Amino acid sequence: MQPARATAVAHPNIALAKYWGKLEGGHNLPAVPSLSVTLAGMATRTTVEVAPGLAADELVLGGKAAAEGERARASRLCDLVWPGGLEAAASGAGAADPAAARPRVRILSHNDFPTAAGLASSASAFAALAVAADAALGAGRARAELSDIARRVSASAGRSLYGGFVELPAAREGEPSARVLPAVEVAPADHWALAVVVGVTTEARKEVGSTEGMLHTARTSPYYPAWVASAPAVCRRVRAAVLARDIAALGEACEESALAMHAAAIAARPGIVYWNGATVDLMAAVRGLRREGLAAYFTIDAGPHVKVVCEQASVATVETRLASVPGCLRTIAARPGPGARVEP
Ligand code: PMV
Repeated sequence: MQPARATAVAHPNIALAKYWGKLEGGHNLPAVPSLSVTLAGMATRTTVEVAPGLAADELVLGGKAAAEGERARASRLCDLVWPGGLEAAASGAGAADPAAARPRVRILSHNDFPTAAGLASSASAFAALAVAADAALGAGRARAELSDIARRVSASAGRSLYGGFVELPAAREGEPSARVLPAVEVAPADHWALAVVVGVTTEARKEVGSTEGMLHTARTSPYYPAWVASAPAVCRRVRAAVLARDIAALGEACEESALAMHAAAIAARPGIVYWNGATVDLMAAVRGLRREGLAAYFTIDAGPHVKVVCEQASVATVETRLASVPGCLRTIAARPGPGARVEP
C-alpha cells in the first residue's frame, strides 16, 4: 500500500495590528487582538508522509534535518491534528493521550524566501504543516480547527490559514471553551490592492525570538499593562480602515500599533531593542515620503526590518526610496494572497 502523503502551501503574514503578549496559564493564548495581511509571492511548501515504520517523527527543513526543538513543535502540531488530539488539549483532560495512537510522519518543508528576511517563516511553516498533516493523516478537520491548532504552536501561524485580511481575537480569560481560539477572515485578498514592501536591513537571524521577547516584556516592562489596555482600540481602528479601504487611517493605526509594541519591549528590564540604525533611517524615509504626499506607513516586527504598507500603485516609488537608504540591503514587495491549501 502507498503511504498516505499530502503537500500543502502557505504564505507568511504581516500584522498591521500587532500581537505581543500571552495570557498566563498555557495554551498560547494572545493577550491582545491582532490583524494581519497574508502575503502572496512567498511560500512554504510542506509534504507530510505517513511512515508507520519510523520510531520518531522526522523533520527536514530546506534539505537539512531540523533541530530537536523544531522537530518537537512539528510533532506537537501533528498530535493536535490527530483525531481527539485538539479536543484533549482544549479540555485539559489528563486521561489517555489520543495522539499515542498516531502513526509517525516524515515532514519535508521548504521556504522559497530567505528565513532572515524578517517575514515570519514560522507562520507559513506551521500553517502549511497543519493543512498537510490533516490531509495525510485523514483527520478531515475544519479550517477553524486547523487555525486553532496552528495558533497553539505559533499564534501568527493561526492567521496564515486564511487569505487576505485576517484577525486573531484576544483570548478571553476563564472557562475551557475560551481556550478554543481560531483566527477569522476579515476581508478576502482581492478586497484591496494593498502592498507591503520590506526593507531588509540584515541577513542575520534575530537575537531575541518573539516568544522570549514577549514573555520578558510581560514580566518586566512597566509599559506592558498600557500596551495590553490600548491594543484593542488600535486593532478596531485597523479593522475599520481595512473594511473602508482607508489607507491614511490604516497607516496611522498600523504605525501606532508597531511603535507601542516596541515601546513596551524597549521599556523592559533589560530593554529589548530590535532595531538597528537602518531601521530608524528607514522609518524617517517613510515619513519623508508622506511629507511629499505619498501614502506610505511602516510597521516593524521582532527584528530590524521595516515593512512599508502602501497601495500597489506606489510600490515602485517606495522601493526606490527605501533602496536609497544606507543599510537597506534590498527590498521585497508583496501583495495580499490566499490562505493555506493542499496542493493537488
Ligand atoms: O506568533 P509568533 O510567536 O511568531 O509572534 C509574532 C509576533 C510579531 O510578529 C512581532 C507580531 C505579530 O502579530 O505577528
